[in-house]
Amino acid sequence: DALIAKFERITGAKAHPWIKRGIFFSHRDLDLILDNHAAGKPMYLYTGRGPSSEALHLGHLIPFMFTKYLQDVFRCPLVVQMTDDEKFLWKDLQLEECHRLGFENAKDIIACGFDITRTLIFSDLDYIGHMYPNILKIQKAVTYNQVKGIFGFDDSVNIGKHAFPAVQAAPSFPSSFPHIFGSRVDVPCLIPCAIDQDPYFRMTRDVAPRLGFKKPALIHSKFFPALQGSDSKMSASDESSAIFCTDTPKQIKEKVNKYAFSGGRETVEDHRRLGGDLAVDVSYQWLTFFQHDDAELKRVGDAYASGAMLSGEIKKELIDVISPLVARHQAARALVTADMVKTFMTPRKLVVDRS
Ligand code: TRP
Repeated sequence: DALIAKFERITGAKAHPWIKRGIFFSHRDLDLILDNHAAGKPMYLYTGRGPSSEALHLGHLIPFMFTKYLQDVFRCPLVVQMTDDEKFLWKDLQLEECHRLGFENAKDIIACGFDITRTLIFSDLDYIGHMYPNILKIQKAVTYNQVKGIFGFDDSVNIGKHAFPAVQAAPSFPSSFPHIFGSRVDVPCLIPCAIDQDPYFRMTRDVAPRLGFKKPALIHSKFFPALQGSDSKMSASDESSAIFCTDTPKQIKEKVNKYAFSGGRETVEDHRRLGGDLAVDVSYQWLTFFQHDDAELKRVGDAYASGAMLSGEIKKELIDVISPLVARHQAARALVTADMVKTFMTPRKLVVDRS
């Protein structure tokens, strides 16, 4: 609570509902980022995406929607890493296909509203040379044993996987972006990401001081539950597990009604008497992500928990919130031109207001 108050005081912005609701629930050194901002100094944001599927689902959009908010709050440069190399090494995909998916996915990322004068989206395949000096320095500072210990690789894993963590670490250092920061090493980096990415950045923070670099700061989100409930994984290859950015209003309605795990009771009588279980109800959990109006969320949560609202009704509440959101995303994506993608993905000078 004290850090949230400091965030609001220093940035002059209202904390995002995802901060207040504990969806972005943990951090490393966010207070240092705020002190740096209060001192009028520059900073930058770094996030990324592994391009392994054509269409993104709502869970994929969460870090980007939050990063867009942070870019507005800090008015700072943002770099977005498309790890086409990572997906080639980990998945049964052709390298060219991963590269192409990176460009396709960039359109969805751009549709989140990033400032074209302040944002670089880069494919590892295309950009790697610029950060190779930093990649090498990181590789020299981390041993095989450390990487095995952090990521749990066994001895039969391909050597590309062992080398990759240095590639994800490198954008945490401003000198990986000479067009933007020259050779400066003093511009701090803030990384919004899902909690599963933390191992990469624990490794990064561990090596940073030895290389004469600042440790990146982080802000982590918890996982967005699959339609089937928080025990199952939302997967881009399982149509029924997620709502995709490409889904039609009809598909959204059908999927929520058919698959969204319900905290409702066996019979209407039981439900009226006992109330719904908010802790397992996916419609309610998704509303905590996408219903930004606190009073509305409370109204729906109270009504469902008391039994006054039935499962079909809370599903309708969710459908009414996410359908326009997906439609807005589709409209924004349709406006993203090939030229815009090209500009976002060209290494260039970005606007940095502070010095
Ligand atoms: N490894 C991430 C994934 O598979 C992609 C990624 C690269 C990333 N750099 C990042 C995610 C920085 C968050 C922050 O999706």
